[in-house]
Amino acid sequence: MVCLRTLLRLALPSALLTFAVLAVGCTDGGANPPSTAGAGGASHDGEGLPCEVSELLAARCQSCHSSPTKFGAPMPLVTRADLIAPLFGGQGTVGELSLERMKADKPMPPPPNERATDAEIAAFEAWVDVGMLAASAAEECGGGGSGSGGAGPGCTPDLAVTPLAAFSMPEDEIDAHICFGIDVPASDVARHITAIVPRIDNEAILHHLLFMQAPKSVSPDPAPCDVTASDWKLLYAWGPGTPAYVLPEEAGFPLAAGETGHFVLQVHYNNLKGLAGQVDQTGMDLCTTTALRPHDADIMAFGGMQFTLPPNAASELTCETTVPVIPGLPLTVFQAWPHMHTKGASLTTAIDHGGSTEVLADVPNYDFDYQVTYPATGKLNAGDVVRTRCGWQNDTGKSVPFGENTANEMCFNFVTYYPRVELAQWHWLLPAATAECQLVTK
Ligand code: HEC
Repeated sequence: MVCLRTLLRLALPSALLTFAVLAVGCTDGGANPPSTAGAGGASHDGEGLPCEVSELLAARCQSCHSSPTKFGAPMPLVTRADLIAPLFGGQGTVGELSLERMKADKPMPPPPNERATDAEIAAFEAWVDVGMLAASAAEECGGGGSGSGGAGPGCTPDLAVTPLAAFSMPEDEIDAHICFGIDVPASDVARHITAIVPRIDNEAILHHLLFMQAPKSVSPDPAPCDVTASDWKLLYAWGPGTPAYVLPEEAGFPLAAGETGHFVLQVHYNNLKGLAGQVDQTGMDLCTTTALRPHDADIMAFGGMQFTLPPNAASELTCETTVPVIPGLPLTVFQAWPHMHTKGASLTTAIDHGGSTEVLADVPNYDFDYQVTYPATGKLNAGDVVRTRCGWQNDTGKSVPFGENTANEMCFNFVTYYPRVELAQWHWLLPAATAECQLVTK
């Protein structure tokens, strides 16, 4: 896996980790400004970095590649020393590898963070090309900026969904996908969930989160799991850079009166540096309301379930579902969660209204390790055709069938919409299960 390769290639002198001070960006906080810490001594972090380079790193990299690093990032990208550091055992420097990764198919920064612009990459490349020379004081950024937290949900969470027990990350394990079943007590009145706010505990080992609702209780003991037990519905997928999730004003996820609420939190942990004694008890905070909204929100799956990918080939599957006549139309779609497994390369979904088209998701560089939910807008009417296209690169010598196991593949776009369609009318997996699909191999 990528992570092992990263571990082998990167030199991580502990002195760098100890002495580097957190970045103070020179821009005025973008969408995801880096966290900041107290000022260092006589020298400053941006010392020797041309202003464009330190601005780029602050705006696009240091939400993870800070010092110390967060969310599984292998090394800090804060000081010039960080960038000129040689790669362990390999050729080149961290700066050169950074340039490569900004241009790569599975780019840094990972989704949902926007890629660096061509102009930003060009400025970085120009500096790498001259050997990452120390910039003069005049080329450095002027004043220090400051970071602040991301935008809040605009409501006060009133329901905590927290695992009963913390998870201890084994020191000798690099990756773990751990599920926690969490029940919330029944309320005597019906409620709507209106916002979901991640409560991140241990940034050093957290990579990404999937938050699901389940029809029945799931074991609270932290245990490895695959998420796609088909009766769990994904409400929210978080990766560093994903904002809190606020539902549209017309809709909420229902919590029925007098019934225990069942949730599953799947956490992807990453302990690339083999840190000892890391524990985590990340949870979700929910805003709920008893002033029920006009509509219940729900999840529906588009994509396809009948395919087998040939060995050693790139394949593309196109699946079409026609919206039937059902009560409640038009349906309003407001979120999408493209989901494939490790060979997934791209996914798009569009609604064909017979003349006009609405794009529900377009992920040209799908990365299994960075699956997050995306805001979406679309209306579904009877007769509309929903077309989902999944691309894969199967570099193994074996055919890969559809399946829940991570070694098999999937092509789903789980969309969130309202008003909720009753199970009997159009079961939530039917749009994908009954789709007409065509596989093309290149
Ligand atoms: C959302 C968190 C995050 C952001 C933002 C981010 N990275 Fe990363 N980065 C990671 C993680 C996690 C890894 C290790 C897994 C991997 O290689 O994909 C990584 C790995 C890397 C590697 C090592 C790759 C290898 O093949 O060994 C480089 C170089 C890198 N990032 C550069 C950057 C640069 C440059 C930026 C900003 C333009 C950036 N990253 C932004 C999380 C992030």
